[in-house]
Amino acid sequence: MRTKYKPPRLRNLKPDKRKGRKKRYILIPLLLVILLSLGILLKVRWGAWFGNAPEAPYSTPEEITRITLTPGSDFTSERTLSWRSGERLEASAVYIQEITAGGDTLPGHRIPALGRLVKSRSGKGCFYHVSLDSLHLGARYLYRLQSGERRSPIYSFTMPTERDCDTTRFVYLGDVQDPAGQMSSTFFREIKARLADSIQFLALAGDQIEGPTDQYWQSWYQALQGLNTRIPVIAAPGNHEYLKRGFARELDVRWIPQTNYPLNGPKDFLQRSYYIDFPLMRLIVLDTTDIMWLGAINSHKSWLRHALSSSRQPWQVVLFHHAVDCVREGRKNLIMHHVFKDELLDHGADLVLQGHDHGYARSTTRGQRGDTIAPAFVISSASPKVYRNGFSAVHDRLGSGLQLYQDITVTKSQIHYTSYRFQPDSVSRDSLLDRSKLLYDEFTLSRGRDGVVHVDDKARSLPELFLYENFSTDSKGQKRAAQYAKEVKERRERRKKQ
Ligand SMILES: [Fe+2]
Repeated sequence: MRTKYKPPRLRNLKPDKRKGRKKRYILIPLLLVILLSLGILLKVRWGAWFGNAPEAPYSTPEEITRITLTPGSDFTSERTLSWRSGERLEASAVYIQEITAGGDTLPGHRIPALGRLVKSRSGKGCFYHVSLDSLHLGARYLYRLQSGERRSPIYSFTMPTERDCDTTRFVYLGDVQDPAGQMSSTFFREIKARLADSIQFLALAGDQIEGPTDQYWQSWYQALQGLNTRIPVIAAPGNHEYLKRGFARELDVRWIPQTNYPLNGPKDFLQRSYYIDFPLMRLIVLDTTDIMWLGAINSHKSWLRHALSSSRQPWQVVLFHHAVDCVREGRKNLIMHHVFKDELLDHGADLVLQGHDHGYARSTTRGQRGDTIAPAFVISSASPKVYRNGFSAVHDRLGSGLQLYQDITVTKSQIHYTSYRFQPDSVSRDSLLDRSKLLYDEFTLSRGRDGVVHVDDKARSLPELFLYENFSTDSKGQKRAAQYAKEVKERRERRKKQ
């Protein structure tokens, strides 16, 4: 006889109402706490994340100003001159005359300029530029700019000599970001006095200015002490050169017209990411502020890989703003760390120059035997704004509360890197202090017989300086100050034992 099928009784499948209620008691307050914390965080950080410094209304004078000398993609034969004049586009040109390496003065000629009207949030101005190629090694070029009826004074720049092709010397600065423009004026005065006749260019790792306003650009050009008319400026954009538009970022409209960098970057990033070829190195510049979305990450990844691996020069130097291993306490640039660090390691970067953290750090890569090899990663700053550093083991050398410049010399056999503190205010600017007293870091990169680039730390005997002291006076600030002092002490003890 067939028995009738009885389905099993699903006794325990009914939800336990008491348990559900219990979960709700926990989840609802938790959700409220999260929402409240998010609300407070948004309120506190709204200005920093989404706000822009207001741009005061301005008008652009007729006078020719903001002259910027930049290199083309071939450093030995190409230069671009950019300038600003008035608010109405007019016929513009450069008058240029060559004095050859042998001392002969050749007839001058006029080259018409390209111009564009640039409108920012609170004003407008006309920017012009002329790109020069087939320039000669060792030649000095006198130039005068003209827009409409206005003419600039006569300026000059000198191309590298044959001998310079065996040695490239330059100054690298991290963030200059000096809202008042006073400290940076004294720094550029010092660079001018010490180095202007010896270096071939200035390399800037972004955040040159406090924010994308005409006034901050004005301070920047005033601070430069005229170096911009005679020494090529190679800069990476930083986040402070960007205008925030909600969650989006937009590079300041003046950036490209002021610099007109080479057009060899990834699509959508032309003249923002680019590279420049020197006889002994390729210098690759990345705009890291706006590569946080997938399309930009991918296009930069393949471009960077190609720029590194297609170079025929012995050295690859990379310059950008957001560091792969941050030194600022608690900061992480996840995409730079997890995506671009590997690209730099795998495709032959030797020296990586970074900014953004307003502190100093140097780290290297470890070889199979634990030795220090390229790439060497550096973070530096010349800004009066200083941040508290963290104490990650990845950094071989640290510093805080410092304003530094780096004097770097590239030869066929090595890169010699030095970092110096700017001269203190207490010392007269007329008498420059012995520079060796201001040395903060030094190392060399040289290629061994095995083809591996080794990093030799020459700064082991130099003390690390932790001068950061911007702690608030409340109990939270004092607690932080005590913790910081403790970490500094522990680091010093660890270093003594090494
Ligand atoms: Fe920055």
